[in-house]
Amino acid sequence: MKFSVRMDRIKASGIRAVQKRIAGRSDIISFAAGLPDPALYPMEDLEKATAELYAKDGRKAFSYGLTKGYGPLLDILVKRMNEKEHVQCSLENICILSGSQQGLGLAAQLFIDEGDVVITENPSYLGAINAFRPYGAEFAGVDTDDDGIVIEDLEKVLEENPRAKLLYMIPNFQNPTGKAWTLERRQRFMEVIEKYDVVVVEDNPYGEIRFKGDPLPDLKSLDKTGQVMYLGSLSKVLSPGMRIAWVCASPEIASKVEELKETNDLQSPELTQMLATYYMNMFDLEAHIKEIQETYKERCELMIEMIKKYFPKEIKYTDPEGGMFLWLELPEGLDSDKILDEAVEAGVAYIPGESFFAQEGVKNTVRMNFTMVNDQQIRDGIKILGEVFSRHIQGSNK
Ligand SMILES: Cc1ncc(COP(=O)(O)O)c(C=O)c1O
Repeated sequence: MKFSVRMDRIKASGIRAVQKRIAGRSDIISFAAGLPDPALYPMEDLEKATAELYAKDGRKAFSYGLTKGYGPLLDILVKRMNEKEHVQCSLENICILSGSQQGLGLAAQLFIDEGDVVITENPSYLGAINAFRPYGAEFAGVDTDDDGIVIEDLEKVLEENPRAKLLYMIPNFQNPTGKAWTLERRQRFMEVIEKYDVVVVEDNPYGEIRFKGDPLPDLKSLDKTGQVMYLGSLSKVLSPGMRIAWVCASPEIASKVEELKETNDLQSPELTQMLATYYMNMFDLEAHIKEIQETYKERCELMIEMIKKYFPKEIKYTDPEGGMFLWLELPEGLDSDKILDEAVEAGVAYIPGESFFAQEGVKNTVRMNFTMVNDQQIRDGIKILGEVFSRHIQGSNK
C-alpha cells in the first residue's frame, strides 16, 4: 500500500510503547497515564442533564448542526473567555472544535508549508509535534527554566530561523513538565513575538486546573496584534470523551478555522455539545472544577512528599501548581528508557521523557502523572521507583 509521505513523518509514540510494555499487567502502579481521573466525572449530574436533553431537545441532539458550533454553547464559551480568561471574545472570534487536538491539526493545515519552522518549548506535547510534523514542519526548541520559557533563547531561535512561522506554547502546567510561566515571562514573550510575522498557538487544556497560586493572564489576553490562536478544552475539567474544545482567535483566523473544519468533520457532535450546554446550565461547573483541583492537589503534594522522602537527592523534579504531570531529571548519563524495564519488573511504570523532544533526544528525563493513582499507589510506587533510581545512580557513580 502506498501511503502518503505524511505518514512516515509521524513519530512513534513513546506513550503507546510504554502502554504495550505494561499491557496485561494489572499489578503495575502506573505513573504513565495522561488522563483525567474518570472517578471525578460528575456522573449523576451528567445523567440528569442527559435525561433533560433527551426529553426536551432529543431530536435536535441527534441532528446535523452548524460547523461553528451549537449556538448556546458558543454563548457560554464566549462569556467564559471574557469573564474567566479576561480575553475580549465575541462570536466572530470563536469556533467549537472536536477536542483541542483538532485545533492543532487545523493550525498545521492553516499555517504550515513544507520546510516552515515550528517553535516549541523543549520538551513539548508529543500530540502537537505529531500534528505539525506530517505537513513538513521543521522544529526548533526553546529552553525553559523554573519561570517558563527562556526569553533570550526565544530571541535567538527566532533570529536563527527566518522560516519560523508558528510558535506552539503551553504556558500553564505544561504537558509534560507541569511548568507554568511567570507573569513577566508571559509579558516579555508577547513583546518579542510582536516583532515577528508569526502566529502563536496557545494550548491551554490545564489552565483551569490550578490548585495553588493565583491565576495568571493567558497570552491571548495580552495579545494586541491578533497573533495568538488560543485553544481551550473541556477535556480535563468535564470529560475528554465529549471531545469539546474551542478556538478563540482573530476573526480572520477563526473564520479560516471554520472553513477548514467543515472539510475535516463538518461539525463537532451536536449530541455532546448540547449535553455540555445542558450540564453547564443545570449545574455548577466551577464547583466541579474545584473538586478536581482539590483531589489533584492532594495527589501532587503527596507525590512530592514521597519524592523528597525516597528519591536520591541527585534527581531534580518540578513542583507544579496545577495540571496533571510533574517532570524528573535524572543525573546526566542515565537513560530513563532503559531503566523503565527494571521499574516495570519492580511493578512501576512512567513515561521516558525522550519522546517529548522534537529534535535530539534527552535520555535522562521522565514524565510522571499524578491524576490516575490513589494515595497508596503513590506511596508504594514512589518508594519502589526511588529504589530503582538509587541503584542506577550508585551504579553510574562507580
Ligand atoms: C497539551 C495538550 N494539548 C492538547 C491535548 C488534547 O486535548 P483534547 O482532549 O482537548 O483534544 C492534550 C491531551 O492530553 C494535551 O496534553
